[in-house]
Amino acid sequence: MIIAVDGPAASGKGTLASGLARHYRLPHLDTGLLYRAVGLAVAGKEDRPDLEEAAIAAARTLDAAHLADLDALTAAETGVLASKVAVIAEVRAALFDFQRNFALQPDGAVLDGRDIGTKICPDADVKLFIQADSKARMERRAKQLEARGIVVDRYALYHQIEERDARDMLNPHGGFYKADDAHLLDTTLLDIEAALRAAIEIVDRTMALKAGGQTS
Ligand code: CDP
Repeated sequence: MIIAVDGPAASGKGTLASGLARHYRLPHLDTGLLYRAVGLAVAGKEDRPDLEEAAIAAARTLDAAHLADLDALTAAETGVLASKVAVIAEVRAALFDFQRNFALQPDGAVLDGRDIGTKICPDADVKLFIQADSKARMERRAKQLEARGIVVDRYALYHQIEERDARDMLNPHGGFYKADDAHLLDTTLLDIEAALRAAIEIVDRTMALKAGGQTS
C-alpha cells in the first residue's frame, strides 16, 4: 500500500506520515529532507550566478550522508533555502527517481511532501492532503524548535512560513495542490493523536472501499 501525504509547511504532515508508517508497518520517507539537503548544500551561495548549477549538482549526487545532520536540515532557514532550490526543474527531476523507487518497495511506503499525490505517486492507494491555518502551523513549528532548545522569534517564523507557502504555491514545476482524489484533513483543531486517528480512519475506509471494488 502506498500512502501519499501532502500539505503546506508545518501542517503536521510529517508527524502524521510517521504515525501512519508505524501503524501500518511501512517505511516512511520525508521528501522535504531531500530538498532541505540540496538547500543546505548551496547555503551561502544564494546570490551567486552559479546557484542553480550548484543545486542541480547537489541533487544529482545526494546520498544518505547528506540526510544525517537533522539539526541543520530541520532549521527554519534551511526550509527557506529548500523552497528556493525546489523551483529548479532539474533539481526536482534529479530527486524524482529516489522518491519513486522508495515508493515502489514490495510492501509499499508512506511518503510525505508537496507533490506526492500529484507527481511522485499519482497512483498511490490513499492520498491525504493535510491543512491547518497559518497561525496554528507557526505555533507548532515554534514548539518543535523550542523543544530542541532553539530560541524562536515567532514573528519571523510566521513570515518565513508565509514566504515559503507563497513560493511553493507559485512553483511552476511544483504540483503543490490537492490531487482530485486526495482526502482533505484539516488539523487546526486536532492534537496529534486525534489527527492520526482521523487519518487511519480515512486509510482504512479507502482500502475497504477499494477491496469491495468501489472508489472512495
Ligand atoms: O516540514 P515543512 O513542511 O516545513 O517543510 P518540508 O516538507 O521539509 O519542505 C521544505 C521545502 O522543500 C518546502 O517548502 C518545498 O519548497 C520543498 N519541497 C518540495 O518542493 N517538494 C516536496 N515533495 C517536499 C518539499
